[in-house]
Amino acid sequence: MKITKICCIGAGYVGGPTMAVIAQKCPDIQVTVVDLNEKRIADWNDPNPENIPIYEPGLSEIVAEARGRNLFFSTDVDKAIDEAEMIFISVNTPTKTYGKGKGMAADLKYIELCARQIARVAKQNKIVVEKSTLPVRTAEAIKSILDNTGNGVQFQILSNPEFLAEGTAVADLLSPDRILIGGDITEEGQEAINALVNVYANWVDKERILTTNVWSSELSKLTANAFLAQRISSINAMSELCEKTGADVNEVARAIGMDSRIGPKFLKASVGFGGSCFQKDILNLVYIAKSYGLNEVADYWEQVIIMNDHQKRRFSNKIVQTLYNTVADKKIAFLGWAFKKDTNDTRESAAIYVADDLINEQAKISVYDPKVSRAKMQADLNYLETRSKEENNDFLYTFNNAYEACKGAHAVAVLTEWDEFRTYDWQKIYDSMHKPAFIFDGRNILDSKHLESIGFVYNGIGS
Ligand code: NAI
Repeated sequence: MKITKICCIGAGYVGGPTMAVIAQKCPDIQVTVVDLNEKRIADWNDPNPENIPIYEPGLSEIVAEARGRNLFFSTDVDKAIDEAEMIFISVNTPTKTYGKGKGMAADLKYIELCARQIARVAKQNKIVVEKSTLPVRTAEAIKSILDNTGNGVQFQILSNPEFLAEGTAVADLLSPDRILIGGDITEEGQEAINALVNVYANWVDKERILTTNVWSSELSKLTANAFLAQRISSINAMSELCEKTGADVNEVARAIGMDSRIGPKFLKASVGFGGSCFQKDILNLVYIAKSYGLNEVADYWEQVIIMNDHQKRRFSNKIVQTLYNTVADKKIAFLGWAFKKDTNDTRESAAIYVADDLINEQAKISVYDPKVSRAKMQADLNYLETRSKEENNDFLYTFNNAYEACKGAHAVAVLTEWDEFRTYDWQKIYDSMHKPAFIFDGRNILDSKHLESIGFVYNGIGS
């Protein structure tokens, strides 16, 4: 079966970039990305590609090339479903905030709505692709909805989890380590798998396209995120021990990373991981394990989250303790608010939690981030519901320029590893700050020797 029209439900951090690359690499396929969020779609259609709603290096150029040719963004979900032979579901699957599994399980209400909408609209056979990260065996639920409320149409459900990392989404999509496709072992299932393999084969080597059963594919995504996050929590755990013993976590990471069995990636100690995925996916894994009565498995993975929360809290505590146990009315400058560099995504960013802790201590937080707006920072703090919006507003100061953000500060805290922070005129920043001038480098990216030679009191993670 040759695919000529694709629809993707969900124009977010995954749907947008993924479909832009498919459209660029498959000019014969018409790709329509739909979303309920009218503002988001309007932003994707902004005449100036620089204004698309998601910042990713290289993305605006791809959108500029494909949009209007074979890449379309629309709010007409029904029409796009009706026309497409293959439908990707790329909607959000956040942690449940209510009911059974609250705070742990993935909230599948958006997935179910998509399935019901597809069932209602579809008049011809469709391949439905799970692109969202889902609990293992979700395809079963989707299939049941489609089979029971459909119009006698045949559906094939594939799992095709996305492994891109924000900040390098375009590069990851253009040359993925692997593409994973799970499907039924029946003849129709294999045909559907082949149809999707052929889409990717337009630019990905076939050896890198793995096909598995649906459950392995669904569970592999949760497993990959659990392993990645576990490495960060492991090195962060060691960072605390380093601080007590005179070891330096950067040196330890380098030493163990040269062991080919361990490898050097994901061994950077930091203020803790953020992002929309790691925490939610591990909590989901923990919930699934518990639901099968696998309490040891659940406890093992939950510890990754416990360690990460500890690392964020430890960072804010260290700032307070170092500043003579009081930060009330002191200005603490934050460099960075995004959860990592090269993205404007702030979901679960460590900066939010550190700011919240410090505002509890009545510190004034002045933030500079190259890509995050004040409105988003406010919304992030308000979402925690620790205090009123007005109070958050009173404690949060934002600047379009790092030098302004740091002027008159008692301390600077690096929360995101943006490259530009390394290149600043740190003497100029030092001169404008209260003395002693403290730096808390939550990403270990600055040159501590240089900063100390200027006069800063430097605090990194794990040394
Ligand atoms: P997102 O929140 O940026 O985008 C989801 C979009 O879906 C939103 O714009 C929302 O309005 C739309 N939506 C929700 N329900 C809808 C419906 N019924 N009809 C039409 N549109 C609807 O989420 P993001 O980050 O793109 O994540 C999507 C999925 O991909 C999640 O399951 C996530 O775990 C997974 N994922 C995310 C990665 C990331 O780096 N953000 C990486 C790999 C997987």
